[in-house]
Amino acid sequence: MKREDFPIFFNKDIIYFDNAATTLKPQCVIDAMNDYYQYYTANIHRGVYDSAILTDYLYDSTRFVVRDFVNCSSAKEIIFTSGTTHSINLLVFGFMKNYLHEGDEVLLSKAEHASNILPWIRLAEDIGIVVRFIPLDANYSIGYDNFLSSITPRTKVVSLAHITNVVGDVRDVQKIGNYCRHHNILFHVDGAQSVPHISVDFIHDNIDFLSFSGHKMCGPTGVGVLVVREDLLQQMIPIFYGGGMNESFDSAGKYKLKDVPARFEAGTPAIAEVLGLQRAILYLKSIGLENIHNYEIRLKKYLVESLSTIPSITIYNKDSDSGIVIFNVAGVSSMDVAKYLNSYNICVRSGNHCSKMLKEDLEVLSTVRVSLYFYNTFEEIDVLVAALQKCQDVFKIVE
Ligand code: ALA
Repeated sequence: MKREDFPIFFNKDIIYFDNAATTLKPQCVIDAMNDYYQYYTANIHRGVYDSAILTDYLYDSTRFVVRDFVNCSSAKEIIFTSGTTHSINLLVFGFMKNYLHEGDEVLLSKAEHASNILPWIRLAEDIGIVVRFIPLDANYSIGYDNFLSSITPRTKVVSLAHITNVVGDVRDVQKIGNYCRHHNILFHVDGAQSVPHISVDFIHDNIDFLSFSGHKMCGPTGVGVLVVREDLLQQMIPIFYGGGMNESFDSAGKYKLKDVPARFEAGTPAIAEVLGLQRAILYLKSIGLENIHNYEIRLKKYLVESLSTIPSITIYNKDSDSGIVIFNVAGVSSMDVAKYLNSYNICVRSGNHCSKMLKEDLEVLSTVRVSLYFYNTFEEIDVLVAALQKCQDVFKIVE
């Protein structure tokens, strides 16, 4: 689907199955960024000349495009960051550090990405909050019952990936969001792996904070988003100070910040990247997230069925409802499998995929991960499976 939009396929003979790490970029996104550099470069919110006004317009209109894409109430709720990691750090140190108190509990799962665990652990060191983990079930998912039984009277925040980056399970954010809203618990959704693939509805799912990255959704690296419910935004404190975020300051140390969201975007932002993100969102909308998801699920089923015919392969997440599949080849390290596949120009990820706690449940230190997107094909899966059929024998010969 849509392969002709991706120039890398004309320039390089690759099979790209590492889409959970980052996605390929369509020509329209590259053009949006190049146009800014080639035809109208200017900083934002400072100049009154034509190119500055055009840049302001395009930068600011991106907030409206994001608002419509994730269905939040207002463009003011959109803060541009450098990516999901920055978004979660802003949430934790700009909001939660002031909102939470010693002994308050934050509920996560062991399947979270490092970016949704380490800032909370650091905050626990700072102010004495308690970080707790929802137990995983046999499929390495959380399940609603496990979620419910992990809630205590001290639970103040739930912070979960919508789709996890290793197991690829899809959490029922609507159900969890409803529960949280009715029990006065704040709910953060790490949408890095979901926003590019399925529709996320900030209002309908009762989400309070949503973070995601541009580069996993056909957009550029260096740009991400933190969406914050408008009534909570006023309680958030910037973690970066400087130009672009203040109204005034004087030698007596008095200063006045700009209104939200500008006060959270100190310094010159990643302008070209924000414009690229806008183009990426419009591009994904033109294909349709439902079409993207349905196609990925067909590819995933085909991949799982094909891999299941190889006796040396163990798949860990056959049933997850996303395009992520993790597996191992008996007797061959995941790194060796990934390097071997590289000899076929096949790009996959190996290792623990930044989710270093998951090994406690998965009981293996590392896996090979294939993560699919809409430009992958059934034929590419055939090439992967044919290569994997020979993998174990190749490594036996080497030994
Ligand atoms: N978080 C990215 C991944 O899962 C880098 O690969």
